[in-house]
Parts: sequence; C-alpha cells; structure tokens
Amino acid sequence: MLILDALTRDYGHFRALDGLSLEIADGQLHGFVGPNGAGKTTTMRILATLLKPTSGHATIDGVDVVKSGFEARKLIGYMPDFFGVYDALKCWEYLDFYGRCYRLSARERRRMTEQLLDLVQLADKRDAYVDSLSRGMKQRLCLARSLIHDPKLLILDEPASGMDPRARSEMKGILRTLREIGKTVLISSHILPELSEMCDSLTILDHGHLVFSGSVEALAEKMNGNAPLEIRLQEGCGESAVESAVSCLKEIPFITEILQEAPCLLRARTEGGEEESAQALRELISRGIPVCDFHRSPMNLEKVFMEVTEDA
Ligand SMILES: Nc1ncnc2c1ncn2[C@@H]1O[C@H](COP(=O)(O)OP(=O)(O)O)[C@@H](O)[C@H]1O
Ligand SMILES: [Mg+2]
Repeated sequence: MLILDALTRDYGHFRALDGLSLEIADGQLHGFVGPNGAGKTTTMRILATLLKPTSGHATIDGVDVVKSGFEARKLIGYMPDFFGVYDALKCWEYLDFYGRCYRLSARERRRMTEQLLDLVQLADKRDAYVDSLSRGMKQRLCLARSLIHDPKLLILDEPASGMDPRARSEMKGILRTLREIGKTVLISSHILPELSEMCDSLTILDHGHLVFSGSVEALAEKMNGNAPLEIRLQEGCGESAVESAVSCLKEIPFITEILQEAPCLLRARTEGGEEESAQALRELISRGIPVCDFHRSPMNLEKVFMEVTEDA
C-alpha cells in the first residue's frame, strides 16, 4: 500500500528526514512515533503531497506522490496537526463544502455527510455551528472531513493531541472502526503507549532516522531480550552488603552497567542471556550476599521508547 524509499528532506542546511525507508501493508493501522522534532510531520506532509522530498520516493498503491500528486491525492485523506475549521459553517455544511472540493455529486455528498457524522459520533451536532464544538469534537469533524472522498489511506498527524482521556478513547474507537472497514491508517503521536495499544505495527523515528519498524510484539521482544536485571537485597542489609554485591557484579564481564536504584535495590544492564544471569546469581549467593529477588524487569513501552530514542 505505502512504500517509502530513502525519503530525505532538508530545510536549508538542516536535514529533518534522513533516508527513511518503510513499507506499510494494506489494512494496517500503523503508528508513527517519535519525540517532537523527529520528522513525523515532515514525512506526513510529503505523503500528503504538500511538501517535496529533497530526495527519495514514496508511492501509495504504486502512485508516486511527487510525480503524480493529483492521482495520489485521491487515495489519501490527510488530517494535519494544526487545522483551521470554518467557524461560520454548520457541521453538515462543513463536510458538504469539502465534498464539493472533491467534486462529489450532491447525492454522494448527502450520503457521505450523514454517514461520516454517524461514524465520528456527531450526528446530533449536524446542524450545530462548528464554532460551538468542543476541541475533541472539532478534531473528530476534521477526521470526518479527511474521509469525505472515501480514501484508501488515512494520514493522521497527532489526531488525539490535547484531548482529555474520554475524547482520546472515543477517537480510538473510531480508528478501530476505520480499520474494520479496511482503511489503511498512518497515525502519529509522541506518546508510544497510546499507539501501541491499538496499532498493528509501529515505526519509531528520532532526529529524522528510523529507529525501529515492525510489529508491536517485535518491539517489546527486541527490548525485553535486553531488559536489565533487577536485584533486590534483604531489607536493611546495610551498605557493606550492597558494596560487596556491586563489586561482585562488576567482576562479571556480561554486566555492563550497575545502578543503585534504592538502598537495597540494584539494576544491572547486561549483554548476555539466561546462562549468564544464572552465573551472576550463583556468584552473589556464593559470596553470602542476601539476595531476596533477582529478575529481568520487563520494560513497559514508555521505557522502551525512551531507551531506543536515546541510543539513536
Ligand atoms: N519549515 C521548516 N523550516 C525549517 N525547519 C523545519 C521546518 N519544518 C520543520 N522543521 C524542523 O524539522 C525537524 C522535524 O520537524 P517535524 O517534521 O515537524 O517533526 P515532528 O512532527 O516529529 O515533531 C524539526 O527539527 C523542525 O524544527
Ligand atoms: Mg509534528
């Protein structure tokens, strides 16, 4: 469906996007994650034909977004990060207006307007002025607008930003419905857990570079293989026990870093697997160190995100 090939974009001397290559299959809900300034909006604007890449290509269903912008625009619905709404219009008029822009017939516009207002749960606001809507409602109306010409691919730039938890959860429900009806969705956020809950696959971007791309499970697996060891010593064991534990761990080659998290809690970064962990535990016990708990602490996705973007 969507193929990005070495997409690069410079702003003057500054490279905002550096050789991004990526494939997204038909019908996927794909999350695009990265801290502010990572290049998410730049990528999305290129895909939406609003910005030309400095080099590289992107195709949507085989249609090149640079060479065949007009054709590409029929395939995509784009919801920008900052959008204007026409305040003096009623909700249905707003959608009708965009339907006209896409040259839909009067009948199609009527059908799509009612259908989309239903989809984004604004049917009861049909005749309300856009001005009177809450922020979350405006965002949903804007999402409806991006669907007016029934595009195959939706590009949503931080559609849930600034929403309260209830509004977010409504937005998630709508996105799930879109996936059920077979749309391919590329959705960005700087909050990883928000996307990992609902996406099939993810791309993590940092400083214009791809850090990770794959399924949510693959990301968790990749990081958990390297999860740090958490070693808790007996409560009140005293400084000398902690010191001997640290010096014991320092002698073990596969342990690369040791941090003291709390008076009796150590965290060790490692490079080895199960066998090496067992060896570390044996060493600690044989030296009489009072170990109460010894395990790899599974990373939550927020930690994973901090970790992968930090390394890059
Ligand atoms: N029009 C522009 N001119 C110069 N620099 C820009 C412009 N737009 C974005 N940038 C820079 O490019 C980088 C990526 O921006 P952006 O794509 O908006 O990131 P994100 O959406 O991930 O926050 C940032 O460092 C930003 O300051
Ligand atoms: Mg952005």
